[in-house]
Amino acid sequence: LAGDDLAGETMLITAGPTREELDPVRYISNHSSGKMGYALARAARHRGAKVILVSGPTCLAPPPGVELVQVESARQMHEAVMACVPDCSVVIKAAAVADYRPVLRCGEKMKKSGETLTLQLEKNPDILAELGQLERRPLLVGFAAETTDLQTHAAAKLAAKNLDMIVANDVSQEGAGFNVSTNIARILYRDGRIEPLELMAKTRLAELILDRIRELLQDKR
Ligand code: PMT
Repeated sequence: LAGDDLAGETMLITAGPTREELDPVRYISNHSSGKMGYALARAARHRGAKVILVSGPTCLAPPPGVELVQVESARQMHEAVMACVPDCSVVIKAAAVADYRPVLRCGEKMKKSGETLTLQLEKNPDILAELGQLERRPLLVGFAAETTDLQTHAAAKLAAKNLDMIVANDVSQEGAGFNVSTNIARILYRDGRIEPLELMAKTRLAELILDRIRELLQDKR
C-alpha cells in the first residue's frame, strides 16, 4: 500500500558510481551498482515524495514516477545536484563519487608503450561538503563507505560535511556495501546518537532511513 507520509517533500537522491574518463575507451570507477540509491528513490516516491534521482551509470530500471537525471562523471553529478538542490527539502547522497579524476583525458585511445604508466589525478569537487555550506541547507543525509574504523571515519565525515545524519557501511563485510542486495549499516546523527543496524535488505534499510528522515524533519519544524 502506498502511504503519503513524505507527501510535500522534494527529495534529491544520488545513486551509482561515477566514471572518470582516461580516453574514449577507458575510465576509473568503482563497484557501486546503484541498488541502495534506487531502493531509496523507489521507497520515497511510494511514500508520496517528489523524487529527483541523479544517477551515475547503472543497469537498473528507474523507479516509476521518479525524475531521472543521468550523469557520468563527478563533475556532471556536481552540476546536476547544484541545479536541483534549491527546490529540495532533503538530499540523500548514496552515490559513490570518485574523489579524483585524471588530469588529462586523451582525445584518442592511449597507446601501449613503456612497462609502467603513471596517471596524474586531480581532486573532484566534494558535492556533499558543498551542500553542507549552503545558506539554505536542505536536510542532508550522507553515506560513508569504509573498510576500517567505520565509526571514527563516518563521524569525521558527518562533522566535516555538516550533515544531519550519515549511514555508515563497512564495505569489507560480507552482505554489506557495493553490489549486493543487503547492507549492514550504522546510522550516526548530528546530536551524537548512534544506531547500529543488523544485516537487512537494502529495500528495508531504505524504508528505515526514510523513517528517520521523517522524524528529523518533524523535529526541525
Ligand atoms: O550502489 P550499491 O551497489 O547499492 O552500493 C551502495 C554503496 C556502498 C555505494 C552505498 O551504501 C554507499 O556507501 N555510498 C557512499 C559511497 C561513498 O562514496 O562514500 P564516501 O565515504 O567516499 O563519501 C562520503 C559521502 O560524500 C557520500 O555520501 C558521497 O556521496 C559523498 N561524496 C563523496 C565524494 C565527493 N566528491 N562528493 C560527494 O558528494
